[in-house]
Parts: sequence; structure tokens; C-alpha cells
Amino acid sequence: MSGFTCATCAEKVSVAAFAPWRCPNENGDRHHVLLIDESDQHIVESHPNPFIAFRRNMLWWQFAMANGMTDEQTITLVQRIDDAITKVGGVGFVTTPLTYQSAFSDELSFESPGGIWVKDETHNVGGSQKARHLMSILLHLFVAEELGIAPWAHPSSRPSLAISSCGNAAIAASTLAAAAKWPIDVFIPEWAGGVVVETLTALGARIHRCARQSQDPPGDPTVLRFREAVNNGSIPFSVQGPENALCLDGGRTIGWEMGQQLAHENISELDAIFVQVGGGAFAASLSRGLSESGIAAPLVAVQTEGCAPLSRAWNTAQADAKSAQHWTQHMWPWESEPVSLADGILDDETYDWVADLAQIQRTNGQVVVARESEVIHASQLAPRTTSISASPTGTAGVAGLLALRSQLANTARVAVVLSGIRR
Ligand SMILES: Cc1ncc(COP(=O)(O)O)c(C=O)c1O
Ligand SMILES: [Zn+2]
Repeated sequence: MSGFTCATCAEKVSVAAFAPWRCPNENGDRHHVLLIDESDQHIVESHPNPFIAFRRNMLWWQFAMANGMTDEQTITLVQRIDDAITKVGGVGFVTTPLTYQSAFSDELSFESPGGIWVKDETHNVGGSQKARHLMSILLHLFVAEELGIAPWAHPSSRPSLAISSCGNAAIAASTLAAAAKWPIDVFIPEWAGGVVVETLTALGARIHRCARQSQDPPGDPTVLRFREAVNNGSIPFSVQGPENALCLDGGRTIGWEMGQQLAHENISELDAIFVQVGGGAFAASLSRGLSESGIAAPLVAVQTEGCAPLSRAWNTAQADAKSAQHWTQHMWPWESEPVSLADGILDDETYDWVADLAQIQRTNGQVVVARESEVIHASQLAPRTTSISASPTGTAGVAGLLALRSQLANTARVAVVLSGIRR
């Protein structure tokens, strides 16, 4: 069984521990991150629900086993939550499609056996990949509650969940919270509005608009208010690894699925997987899942010129063997106002930069900063040629492909993830 090890101070946290959200030595700055220990076992069972098919590789499941739950009970738990998700969100967790896209490949002049494979996350729970990160946290909470390990005695005294987000993560979190009948506080920017807020309201989330306050330190005010809630006892239902390490657990399901789907096509390596990076958890865990499936695929982490803190970190941290210990030398809030059509990846810090760089180094990948014109081009090209209705945030990985296209052979095999359904 694996557990977690802090990338910053090397502290170990057992897989059997309740609430392994943050490193015990973290002192409020979130400059520690618990990374999942490597394991050479990768066990896959045949099941449409990834949280059942891949459960044995996940830390929420290993937590259940370590504390005396049976495997059958874990399966029943996943199915029970999934049924409830279907009632509030329309769909439960299923394997999302990975398809070779010929019109898209032709448009970018790729030739057989090369081309573009697209993983479509737009029909995932909540319309994006975000629910994958959150489900592993929710399962951990339910396991703890059912085994009587959680500090609350009864579901009626559950602490609230909390998340900071302006879009897809908030919708995913509120969908899961509604299914679980668990109260949730969502911290959103002052300017958020429209369909997202309507959806959150319909899901019963408690919405808090966060204006910057004069005494606030630098950084996103929604993150500051979220951390205050967590300090006051809320559960960090977060898609950022330094806030809750378990989000990096479930995020791997996308990579494991891709690994399985590529293996069915007898593909064991890609020339690149392009992933749009905001907070960074998605790229890190997707790529980690691919590596664990035995697929060699350089991770190309894509940011936009309007907000590219990971690119700065990549430039400086490569030469620093102990980069996580020198956190603020490599990662600090983007100074100017972040701006892009891909507004869901404008996180002013790449919170999961340590996990991202680990995967970029492991896979011989890179960070690419796409021009805004490429972000706009990608937002039109990808939906038109694939008929997948992804938002400009969810097509931003394609902007990285456009930026690097001239460096790839026509027969190169590449993959992108389209996510975040257009609302
Ligand atoms: C559709 C979509 N793709 C990608 C991302 C990036 O994920 P992460 O913040 O984990 O880097 C987001 C995050 O908001 C998103 O909504
Ligand atoms: Zn630590």
C-alpha cells in the first residue's frame, strides 16, 4: 500500500490516516504538498465507472481497506453515490470517450499513422474533469463516516464542504455535494454571474462573492476566504493539491482511462499530450495516470500569455534539485491582471506546480505559452472539427498544439482533452 510524501519536507502520511489533506508541517502558507507515493501495481477491473474499475489504485479505497471496510462495501458506496449524482446531475461517472479525430487531424496537416486523439470530458459529471478530482475526496469522507472514524457523530453534524472557484470546479463540487446531501460553501469572484451562478443556486450551494479587501495579502480573494472557512472547520473540497492532496488521487482516472483506451488501439506512446493548466492539478494527475498505465507521453503543459506562472517556474526550477523547498523563488502570484478568453485557467498561481514539474520532467515534456490569437483559434477550430462543444478554457490545450505544430512531424501522434461544456 502506498501513502503520501510531502514534496517540501519529506514528511510521510499514512494511507490509513483520516483527512490527509495537507502536510502536518504546513503552517498556513500552503507551500507543502502531499504527493501520492509511487506504486508498481496498476490493477484494472472491467467496469464502466472509473471509481470502481480503478479503485484498487486509489488512496480513498486503500484508506477503506486499511480501516476495515470490505471491497464489496466500497463498490456499494460508489454505486450509491453515483445513483444520487444521476438524480441531481443527470449523469454519473462513466468512462469518457477517447477518439481519433480525422477532420481535426487533417486540418492541422497530420498524416497516418499520426494525428490527434481527443479525450472528451464535456459529458463528465458537472460538464468537466473537475468532478474526478473531487470524487476521491467525497469517497474518503463517506468511508470515514461509515466506519465511525470521522470526528462527527452523525450526518446531521457534518462540517460544511468549501471550495473556491469561478466555474467548472464549483459546479462539479456543488453537484457532488447535492448528491451527498452535504452542505457546501462556494467562494466565487465578485464578477461571476450568469449560468454558473444560476446552476450553483439550483444545486443548493451557499454562494459567497469575494471582493478584494484592503487588508488582503496578494493572491486570489476567493482562495483567501476559502482558507478562512477551512481554518474555521470546513472541509477543503478543493481541486488544488496543496489544499487537499486527495484531489490528485481521482484526477488520475482520466489518465488511466486514456492508457486503457490507447492500449486497445495498440498505442504505447504519444509524441505529446497537451493539457491546459490553471491551478495545475489536472495536468499533473492526468499525466501521472498515463505514466502509471505504462504510456510514454511527454506532458506539454499549456498556459496563455495573459497568465503563465508555471512557465516562470519551469524556467527557474529545472536547475534546482530542491525546488519545492524554495517554493516562493519559483512560484508567486502573476503580477498583472490575468487575462484570456480561456478565463477558467487564469489562476494567478499554479498551485500544483510541483506535481506538474515532476511529471514534465518524468515524461520529457515542457511548458508552452500560447498566444491569445492561438487561444481564440483553438476555441473555434476544436469544436468545429470535432463537434465537441467545449468552452475556450477547455480547448486551451489545443492552443498549445497550434503553438508547437511546426515542431511536430506530420506523422506525430498527439492527444488533447476537451473539457468544460459550453454553457
Ligand atoms: C475545462 C477546464 N480545463 C482545464 C482546467 C485546468 O485545470 P487545473 O486548474 O487543474 O489546471 C480547468 C480549470 O478550471 C477547466 O475548467
Ligand atoms: Zn511538508
